[in-house]
Amino acid sequence: MTSEGVIQECKLFFFAGHETTAILLVWTLILLSKHSDWQARARDEVLQVFGNNIPDFEDLNWLKITIYTRSYDFPEVNEDTKLGELSPPAGMIVLMPSILLHHDPSLWGDDAKEFNPERFSEGVAKATKGQPCFLPFGGGPRICIGQNFALLEAKMALALILQRFSFVLSPLYTHAPYLFLTLLQPQYGAQLIMKKL
Ligand code: HEM
Repeated sequence: MTSEGVIQECKLFFFAGHETTAILLVWTLILLSKHSDWQARARDEVLQVFGNNIPDFEDLNWLKITIYTRSYDFPEVNEDTKLGELSPPAGMIVLMPSILLHHDPSLWGDDAKEFNPERFSEGVAKATKGQPCFLPFGGGPRICIGQNFALLEAKMALALILQRFSFVLSPLYTHAPYLFLTLLQPQYGAQLIMKKL
């Protein structure tokens, strides 16, 4: 690889690997602040699995925490293609709003907008009836290479936070999701009030 190529790869890793997990954690904390019943359930799960010990990598798999998806994927078309009635040419970047796909009642049922981790209790394939409609990490040859690492990192951080703090939204928080490139950000920040347990 050329030096320029290596620099580009490093930038991609930094952008693809840092903001994504950071935003996942921010939205998860906002949502757990809003839904104190789920925060209590998530904390119970963490305490049951780890008690007050530092979480270990193996046991993180026991946690059933799910992820707040980014909102768009942007695959590039490799060759002239036919997609239903569309004919995207090679090189076209297609914006795919996975957030809509993940909330579509025709795919997920009437409770599509409910947070319901139970729907994945028998695996993603069962929940999606085998259709490729759950794409938090993309799919196909360009699927995210950091998927396992990201989930490990996020679960570790959440487990450590839940063990030590309870949290609620500050009155200063304004709910304003805002799309920056492909990432949905809280436009005015995520002000939380943390209380040491
Ligand atoms: C919650 C965290 C993450 C999410 C939601 C996420 C999501 C995604 C998605 C949807 C894609 C496919 C993009 C496309 O269709 O073009 C992707 C690609 C990629 N991700 Fe992640 N990602 C996350 C974390 C990470 C981490 C931690 C790393 C590295 C340490 C990483 C490295 C990459 C790289 C290098 C690609 C490009 C793969 C390729 O084009 O062959 N990601 N990610």
